[in-house]
This record gives sequence, structure tokens and C-alpha cells, in this order.
Amino acid sequence: MKFFNDLADFSAAEIDELITLARRLDTNPEPRALEGKVLSLLFLSPSLRTLISFQSAMAKLGGSTFVISPEMSIHGLESRSGIVMDGVAAEHVREAVPVIASYGNAIGIRAFAKRESLDDDLADREFRELVSLVETPYINMESAINHPCQSLADWKTMDDLGIPGNGGKFVLSWTWHPRPMPFAVPAATVHMAAMRGMDVTVLRPEGFELPDVIMDKARQAAAMSGGSITETDDRNSAMQDCEVLYVNSWASPHHYGDRRAEEQIKPELHDWCVDEPWFENANCDSRFMHCLPVRRGVTVTDRILDSSRSVVIAEARNRMLVQMALLHQMLSGS
Ligand code: CP
Repeated sequence: MKFFNDLADFSAAEIDELITLARRLDTNPEPRALEGKVLSLLFLSPSLRTLISFQSAMAKLGGSTFVISPEMSIHGLESRSGIVMDGVAAEHVREAVPVIASYGNAIGIRAFAKRESLDDDLADREFRELVSLVETPYINMESAINHPCQSLADWKTMDDLGIPGNGGKFVLSWTWHPRPMPFAVPAATVHMAAMRGMDVTVLRPEGFELPDVIMDKARQAAAMSGGSITETDDRNSAMQDCEVLYVNSWASPHHYGDRRAEEQIKPELHDWCVDEPWFENANCDSRFMHCLPVRRGVTVTDRILDSSRSVVIAEARNRMLVQMALLHQMLSGS
């Protein structure tokens, strides 16, 4: 495996193979599989789970990691092209990124959406530019428009719970958040559930439709897997017989990059905070999923997060396990 950037680059059978390997490595540890191998971790955006789960995954396989982020005492980084660097930044990513990559056998890169240009973010322009600078295998640890490690973990979490792929009803719902949030998780999630063959409903208030490029990619995956995609702002109909409610917040594409304009349309949406009444028409054992971090009392109530519906901790642990599998495939024997 030369890169891990998008579940769409893999077949469902290959994903199944990764999940099977993740389970095997959990029950039958291989503490020397990646002995002597180094994973470079470049965090241009913050993290808790991604940072620690990759460090732990490499350690459990006998390899090691190093972490670089702007918060460390590194030189200020410039990423704009054609710039005269007479400001604060002392080093350009065009030198820094290949140098960082050259110290390891593979590199993981996290670079959140800049949320200035919708077109640039939907095209994943910054991440593509960064990975074009490296010659080692690379892993997308969340870019403007994708979070494949999260989606692989979420796929495994549903498999572990016995939630069916074909025929399972999956609701991806927008929820309240005080700030405009990126499309990475909702885009990766709607595609993952469609690829898994689920009947997917995107539930969102008017004005928060997912951009066409995201929905079209999910529809293509559904067409191949036998799943389906619908979109609605009607919570009652969306939640009917729902087996999984996956929540996230994302920016309004109509006001992308304009926080104040988005704030004008959000005041009436405070009730988009998940609580028990959301599940009235759902399956009785319907699950609540979220990639974390999550704001209690803002996105979801304590009583949902603390209930048996919530599988957020299992999702987070599965990050480590599926990443062990993909690192094993990427680096063992290479
Ligand atoms: N879910 C996830 O990627 O968490 P972090 O942002 O903490 O890494």
C-alpha cells in the first residue's frame, strides 16, 4: 500500500481484509512486525485521538514515531506559492515537508480545511500539494475533505456491533455547533456508509445541504454497493427505523468562509442537539456515533453520550486497531 487517502481507493473486500487484520492484531499481537520502522507525523491542525492512536499503533507493532506541529519550537512555516518570505515564516513547506518525510518510512499528514475557498477545500488542494512533496508512503490523517482513518474505524465499529451493511438504515445528521465546521468528517462518513451498502439519509436544516460533489460521490458508492442516499430536513421521517445516528456539524456551503453570514442563519437551530426524543421512531437499540471531540450540551446531551446507545469510545479505540492494520500492510516487509 503506497498511500491511504480515501476509502474510495479500496474495494469493499480490501476494507474487509484490513478490518480482519485489525482484529487479528488485537487478539494476536505482533510486537516486532514494524521493528526499525519510523512513522513521521505532521500535524498542521490539532488532535487528540489521531495523534495518540498512531503513536500507540506504531509502538504496539514495534516501530516508532516522531511528531512535528507548528506548536513545537519549529521555524514558522509558509505554505503559499510564489511568496517573498520577508515576514514571520522562516521556512517553506516545499523544503520542510520532504525533509520531515525523509526521516521516516511513511508519513501521516493532518491539514484541516482552511475554510476560505469552498472550491479549494472541495478539491483538497492543500493536502494534494503537501503529499506531492513526499516520496514515502503517506496517510491522510484528516484533510479538508476526507478523514479515511475515522471512516475505516467507524466501518469496523458497525461490523463489531453486528449492524448490517446492506439494508441497514444510517442517518448522518447535522448538529448545532457555534462555529462553521469542515466537510471532512461528513463527506467521509456519507461515502463510507454508502460504500458499506447502507440506506443513508442525510438529515440537515435548509441551508446546510452537503455540496453536490460530496453527495454525488456517495451516490456513486451507493449505486455500486446496493445502498441508497436520500436527503431531508424532516427529523421524524429520517429517524424512522434508524439503526445508526451519526452526528456532526458542517458549514453552510452558501456562506462558506463568511462566519458572520452563517451566524445570521443559525440562531433558530439550537434544537439540533441530539437528545432521547430524536430516537422515538428509531429502532430500540439504535446507536449514537460521533468521531469526537464532541461538545456536551451543544451537539448532544449528557444522557445520550452516557447511555448504552453511545459507541463513541469504541469508535475511538478502533482508530488505533485499524491504523495498526493499515501500517502493517503499508510497512511490513517494505
Ligand atoms: N476523531 C478525531 O480525528 O479526533 P482528533 O481530532 O482528536 O484526532
